[in-house]
Amino acid sequence: MTANQGQTEDFLRETHKAAEHIREHVAKGQTVLVISHMDADGLSAAGIMGVALKRLGAPFRIRIERWFDENVAQEIASEKNCLIVLLDMGSGYLSILNQELKGRPIVILDHHQPDGEPDEAFVHVNPALFGIDSARDLSGSGTAYFTAKALSDRNMDLACIAIVGALGDLQDKHENRSLGGLNSLVVEDAVQAGTLAVETDLLLFGRETRPIHKALAYTTNPFIPGISGEEDKSLAFLLGLGIKPKEGEKWRALRDLSHDEKRKLFSALSDHLASRGYKSDRAMSLLGTIYVLKREEPWTPLRDAREFALLLNATGRTGKPGLGVAICMGDRGHCLEQANAALEEYRQTITKYLRWIEEHPDLFEEMTSIYVLHGGESIDEKVISAVSTILSTGMPNLEKPIIAYSIIPDENIMKVSARTVDVLTRKGFNIGEIMRIAAEKFSGTGGGHDVAAGAQLPLKARNRFLKHVDELVTRELRRIRESGS
Ligand code: C5P
Ligand code: ZN
Repeated sequence: MTANQGQTEDFLRETHKAAEHIREHVAKGQTVLVISHMDADGLSAAGIMGVALKRLGAPFRIRIERWFDENVAQEIASEKNCLIVLLDMGSGYLSILNQELKGRPIVILDHHQPDGEPDEAFVHVNPALFGIDSARDLSGSGTAYFTAKALSDRNMDLACIAIVGALGDLQDKHENRSLGGLNSLVVEDAVQAGTLAVETDLLLFGRETRPIHKALAYTTNPFIPGISGEEDKSLAFLLGLGIKPKEGEKWRALRDLSHDEKRKLFSALSDHLASRGYKSDRAMSLLGTIYVLKREEPWTPLRDAREFALLLNATGRTGKPGLGVAICMGDRGHCLEQANAALEEYRQTITKYLRWIEEHPDLFEEMTSIYVLHGGESIDEKVISAVSTILSTGMPNLEKPIIAYSIIPDENIMKVSARTVDVLTRKGFNIGEIMRIAAEKFSGTGGGHDVAAGAQLPLKARNRFLKHVDELVTRELRRIRESGS
């Protein structure tokens, strides 16, 4: 589904309305309270809005939340006399917002599936309202970016941050793992502003910053069994191919490899994946479009937009989202050092859990139509989202959705991360809708996108919830089969 010009224009008109609303409230001297989501897209959105408000001379505060629910809504409600701007969250929780914040001035800039109509006092901007594919073609930070651009053309220098957010939300689903749809307009703006270069290459993680064997080991999308997370084996793999990992004393990065060496590496990785039972599209997803942030220093993780996104996720998930927002707003130096440390900690934690899962296949349960990963208390809730994404790219020829969950012990809550595959979403399957319905049935909240979604609900409902999700997925897959999609 590609947005046509009419849809794009209608959507952009809404971003101008939102900008006007922000301007009016700021002119009245009101503080802007920005609330955004803890993932890379949400932190990018917060950074973009932060810079735009600063340039407008507006007093503002930014709060980052793990997810949206009644508690967050009530806390926002207690903040009086301010304009509330919700970023990368809100659309899926309009019923809660209508109930708790009726009549309050709120601007929602989001791309999650809307769950109803907003109160008339709210300005609700979301590409999904215009028939645009909001899981793939524009993110929360993209929506924030277009609103920032509507505030001032000067904010076009922030387009590259919206690219980071879109890649954080895995929106690179177009040809050659590129960004498409409305995201292409963001890419055009970033290129025009001189902040972005678009290249095609092997998509190893840290192509500019890390020794090749580390880049191989750090690559988890796609997941390469026997290589991802395995530095020693990656080094042996390279040596086996006759690719020199060092030039003199200096480690070589992917960008130092010749064309022939890259071709040799790609073909060996393809053979490796084929020998593990993966279809050829898995190997092809190792090649693709790279987004280089030209103004960032080479050798830093901010240079490659995908690595930048992981760094942001790391700050959020290790409890330091303020660092991520500050970096998006332009802070470097000490902030970047701390964020780098968070990235290293986050990466090691993910690798540790992936190993743990490999050693404990009993954590997996195959139900009629879903796989469940019983992360329970063994897998930290902060990484369950990343782990479930990696698993969804790592299991060969996956055809059932994965429902992974962790337990947040002190709160008696289970946190669910659900992922499905494009083969199903292309037929109209929507895991976000299923998460919403199933979580609400058991007094929780859930939602998201057709391909990636989540939920939080009381732990005591765990088994009934999983059984219900399995039934809903079974029913939906049957409906799709019978309608002949
Ligand atoms: O937490 P996780 O990364 O698995 O969430 C996947 C997607 O589902 C995110 O876009 C998140 O915002 C969305 N989500 C939601 N409502 C929830 C939980 C997650 O909309 N209760
Ligand atoms: Zn998002």
